[in-house]
Amino acid sequence: MAAPRHFLDLDRFDRSTLRRMLDLAAAFKRDVGRHERPLAGRTLAMIFEKPSTRTRVSFEVAMRQLGGDVVVLTDAESQLNRGESMADTARVLSRYVDAIMIRTSKPGKLVELAMHASVPVINGLTDESHPCQLMADVMTFEEHRGSIAGRLVAWSGDANNVARSWVQAAVRFGFRLNLACPAPLQPSNGLLEWAHREGGEVTVMASPEAAVADADLVVTDTWVSMGTREAETRHNLLAPYRVDEALMARARPDALFMHCLPAHRGQEVTDAVIDGPQSVVWDEAENRLHAQKGILAWCLG
Ligand code: CP
Ligand code: NVA
Repeated sequence: MAAPRHFLDLDRFDRSTLRRMLDLAAAFKRDVGRHERPLAGRTLAMIFEKPSTRTRVSFEVAMRQLGGDVVVLTDAESQLNRGESMADTARVLSRYVDAIMIRTSKPGKLVELAMHASVPVINGLTDESHPCQLMADVMTFEEHRGSIAGRLVAWSGDANNVARSWVQAAVRFGFRLNLACPAPLQPSNGLLEWAHREGGEVTVMASPEAAVADADLVVTDTWVSMGTREAETRHNLLAPYRVDEALMARARPDALFMHCLPAHRGQEVTDAVIDGPQSVVWDEAENRLHAQKGILAWCLG
């Protein structure tokens, strides 16, 4: 039996495979409501160990629009909550469904699920990464501005799971990335060394003003990710990294603004920016639906 086509992290793919998924996504988006139902008879199980609005709804709608079905399991309602292992859960779910999406804390749980599943496993966010988000983000940038290759993206804030996937995306899609983060919240050396080994142009700096200079896209995310403690310390550290109109004015005049959402208005981003003319956050949220159709279609052949 051929190995299942997992979607775990962007570093596991070459550029042409990721492009293939985005091409599928764009085709599904163009044909929305009219396309055939290529996933008829297929079922996706979704395991949520953390809350979700976009990931939950966009995967469910994507499966239904492609003709398939979904089953949603939350941590509290399943036997995972009583100690059944990821490995055994993977073996069992593989007998019922055609693919499994999981949102979990520890990346090790995602890997364990994938190791023991005989169907594709999709990463719906861990504490370390959020690759589905990045597929939608790259799609959104390119719809507005053309190819992202060679462009400059600036991240201002915590080097969290989404930021780490931005690093992997920069390497795989060939754009430059400046990450402005306070010293205690910078990305790990291991990730940066990987990016440099792979020929990526990823620069970490302390100054958000320096990071956004000449940027084509400015991105931020919550100061306190799900499951993160020490909210007060983070608020103090990250206040200078807030994306406001003054910071946006330092980027290119046609720079876009993105945020994976949910946003904490007045904290990492001001209303004027998220609701302003440079913001494409609603397109970005919509593209979760289309990008995930591309991922599902690729995973399920
Ligand atoms: N951006 C994102 O993944 O949102 P949810 O947490 O609502 O799924
Ligand atoms: N960094 C955020 C992303 C939410 C989609 C979190 O992990 O909470």
